[in-house]
Amino acid sequence: MTGKDEYYNRSKQEGYRSRSAYKLQQLDETASLFDRNDTVVDLGAAPGGWLQVAAEHVGAGGTVVGVDLQRIRDLDPEADDWGDGDVANVETIRGDMTEAKTQDRLRETIGERGADVVVSDMAPNMTGEYSLDHARSVHLARQAFEVALDLLTPGGDLVVKVFQGRDLEALQEDIEAEFEYVRVVSPPASRDSSSEVYLVAKGRMTAPVETGDRLEVEIEDVGDEGDGIATVDGYTLFVPGAETGETVEVVVDDVKPRFGFAERVD
Ligand SMILES: C[S@@+](CC[C@H](N)C(=O)[O-])C[C@H]1O[C@@H](n2cnc3c(N)ncnc32)[C@H](O)[C@@H]1O
Repeated sequence: MTGKDEYYNRSKQEGYRSRSAYKLQQLDETASLFDRNDTVVDLGAAPGGWLQVAAEHVGAGGTVVGVDLQRIRDLDPEADDWGDGDVANVETIRGDMTEAKTQDRLRETIGERGADVVVSDMAPNMTGEYSLDHARSVHLARQAFEVALDLLTPGGDLVVKVFQGRDLEALQEDIEAEFEYVRVVSPPASRDSSSEVYLVAKGRMTAPVETGDRLEVEIEDVGDEGDGIATVDGYTLFVPGAETGETVEVVVDDVKPRFGFAERVD
């Protein structure tokens, strides 16, 4: 029996709507994605295998919102014969994630609470022309990345499927700039013949300051380049021309997710 038969058969026996469900299980085992009561966004969610897995992990206190071009049949633990009743409220939206109106509906559904995890298994219709399929897959992955930047709470995680190819590295670098770290994962349940990988980005970073903010900071240390180092709510600000122990007034002039620069004005 080949690996693909094993996952297919398991999905039938265990009541999962897709063999892909095991990919998300494995990604969660590798990267600890879900906590109880989380709010999860699932892009490209039909027929609903990933929705089932996410709904089980976050439990009855959580929320899972799935979006797909295709209609997603309502999830019913009894009819589908999965879960133990302690599963999240699942809402679904039918629409194209590349369109603003679908993004708006998703934003309204998630509301102010934001999302703890965004997962995307979106895949283009395959043409068989490798570079075109790759480019379309990267386009969908970038869409998911944009959604994650818009909806994730600080510290939130993103998982996004992409087909390997020339633009993968640039996509990974762009995601890396916004998260604590990114791993490229090939879950065992992916078919051997598939070129898909998942970028698993942990810990959405957000800066507690904005360009132009004026504040008083204490210089705690001096970095290798000679700049003073201050921290604001755990966020590092480099202040050129300031010494350890000084308290200085600064204006923030450059903000990056992991650190920023400020000019002293006193
Ligand atoms: C591999 S399937 C997802 C399987 C799903 N994770 C599961 O476990 O049941 C990929 C899905 O992405 C959806 N998709 C592709 N492009 C999309 C788009 N622009 N907007 C929304 N969904 C899209 C497809 O309709 C398809 O259902």
